[in-house]
Amino acid sequence: MNIDLISFLKKQSEFVPVGDVEKALKISRDAIFSDVEALIEEGYSIEFHPYLGLKLIDIPDRLLKHEIRDDLNTKVIGRKMKIHDQVASTNDSAWELIDTDAETRDGTVVLADSQTRGKGRMGREWHSAPGQGLWMSVVMRVHIPADKLAYITAMASLAVANMLQQFIHLPAEIKWPNDIYIRGRKVCGILVDARSNHAETYVLGIGLNVNQARPDFPEALRETATSLRLERPGAKPLNRVRVLRPLLFYLERVYDLVRKKKWDKIARAWSEFVHMGGKQVSLQQGGAEFTGTVLEVHPAEGITLKLADGATRTFAAETVSNVREVTPARVTPESTAP
Ligand code: BTN
Repeated sequence: MNIDLISFLKKQSEFVPVGDVEKALKISRDAIFSDVEALIEEGYSIEFHPYLGLKLIDIPDRLLKHEIRDDLNTKVIGRKMKIHDQVASTNDSAWELIDTDAETRDGTVVLADSQTRGKGRMGREWHSAPGQGLWMSVVMRVHIPADKLAYITAMASLAVANMLQQFIHLPAEIKWPNDIYIRGRKVCGILVDARSNHAETYVLGIGLNVNQARPDFPEALRETATSLRLERPGAKPLNRVRVLRPLLFYLERVYDLVRKKKWDKIARAWSEFVHMGGKQVSLQQGGAEFTGTVLEVHPAEGITLKLADGATRTFAAETVSNVREVTPARVTPESTAP
């Protein structure tokens, strides 16, 4: 693939005469046309006009390293990348990388077009079909005090929510402990792995649904899951590279706060996206179900509920599952009548 030709065409806002390309890249007209043909085969959309010349219309929706790197404004996150067509799970591939190469760098990103055994929280499966989302894991090599480990999930959810709100203009919400929702449906899940034989090393897995149409989701998820495509006006597919680059950038910004131990700053920014205060929530812990009103949500301390018996109880993220908002039973005049 002639990357110089792509870069050159990207810099032109209009059609560029073939003679100018010849001069700029010092290659023959024949070589240019054969490179253009090869690029079109790779999925690039390039127009040729007999008088005006060439114009790059669009880049392919493929996880190509040189496209992801192009204009990537990060120093740590994604400076090293491993991109696969298909893996079982990018989190597992990241651990393989760490196991086989002790020098695996902080910020290394493992991406796959599809996962055959994408892992969700609580041993659930994460649906990761080809071309439909960003399935990625980031290697983090950093010292984090034990009582602050939940900030890794908070950092990731903050980065995703910020990116969705500021870059794609979607009303993202963080649903404690580790999900991102848009208009009441889950669009992104986060799974952080640590292993006892690797000190100060974490794998941060992010699954972001980008291009699914509703029937692409397994039936069980059709009502509760969503994708960026479904939430955007016109429901047009997005180029995943254009979503990934800002995501890596936002991740780097928050990771920087983690490395500087700015816990309060992260917690404040994170809580802007958590709209659970005052809501009725039910959750499971150790086989029991608890329902109550949310008094407070904190990235490290967890969720504090006022339970039906009036008691106040705080639940840590790693101990709970099935956190759901419940609509309180409606109190009608009939139901309160003596
Ligand atoms: C959840 O909401 O249950 C967490 C889902 C995390 C999915 C991502 S996709 C990339 C990475 N690799 C995995 O196997 N899982 C995470």
